[in-house]
Amino acid sequence: MNLEGKDIVSVFDFSKKDFYRLFQKAEGLREKLRKRPLSTSEGKVLTTVFFEPSTRTRLSFSYAMLKLGGKVVDFGSVAATSVAKGESLTDTIRMIDGYGTDVIVLRHGLEGASRRAAEVAEAPVINAGDGSREHPTQALLDLYTVWKIFGKVDGLRVGIIGDLKYGRTPSSLSYALSMFDDVQIRFIAPEILQVREEVKKRIRSKVDFILYKDPREAIRDLDILYVTRIQRERFEHEHEYHRVKGIYKIDKKLLEEAEAKPIILHPLPRVDEISPEIDGLPNARYFEQASNGVFVRAALIGEILGLET
Ligand code: NCD
Repeated sequence: MNLEGKDIVSVFDFSKKDFYRLFQKAEGLREKLRKRPLSTSEGKVLTTVFFEPSTRTRLSFSYAMLKLGGKVVDFGSVAATSVAKGESLTDTIRMIDGYGTDVIVLRHGLEGASRRAAEVAEAPVINAGDGSREHPTQALLDLYTVWKIFGKVDGLRVGIIGDLKYGRTPSSLSYALSMFDDVQIRFIAPEILQVREEVKKRIRSKVDFILYKDPREAIRDLDILYVTRIQRERFEHEHEYHRVKGIYKIDKKLLEEAEAKPIILHPLPRVDEISPEIDGLPNARYFEQASNGVFVRAALIGEILGLET
């Protein structure tokens, strides 16, 4: 069983087996693509449809497809399309599907947008972020990075700090971690940004987790500290954002509290939550994490399109 022809709407569309197989494929592609692009996906088209800003996700999907020898069409900015005239998401997706794309990568501010798109499109849809809910391929690249560094995911202690309420990367990462054995998650956030009920409910029976307010307490014996940005654009009122803005910062002083130095990951972009003084430390792995996105997304596209990679 693999993911040929499948939609990836949620991280639960992957199994633990899928994760390991995609990690291996990503490793293989890293080697092959070092020399030259492949021609495996010649004639295939991937369409990126982003209703919200993106740098890494859109570009790494595009680079991945181009390196597989395929073509990329980008929907462009929403303001320049018929969405600005009031066209619905489903009509837009129907059109793109009708033009003959082989896969659609969609980012949208509304929760459930990818599910809707997957229902109307014949081509597989990959969720590249829907509102605060999920970002499954970010979790895929996060775990690929963890697996590359530790050689495993089972048995690790992972702190997830920041905006756990509005962030979609913490939820997808937590769901993904809940599929592995003996993992412990520490959710570190001020009360108003703590992890959502729906997330706790879905992982409760599968993984140990503890809630913390104070990062100094939580980081003492962590393997990984996953840092996230406060999602300013998702707050209902700007004054609420200002109450929590800058409330935590990962700097050398905080890391002194940790006995074993955790590796630091971040989906990026960062604003001010990781001090640049951390960038030069050997445990700062967030830029490497971002570049891993190309290989693991190439592995995923290859599998969805049924290609030999
Ligand atoms: C994240 C996202 O869009 O959810 N970015 C990304 O895809 N790497 C994180 C964020 O915007 O804070």
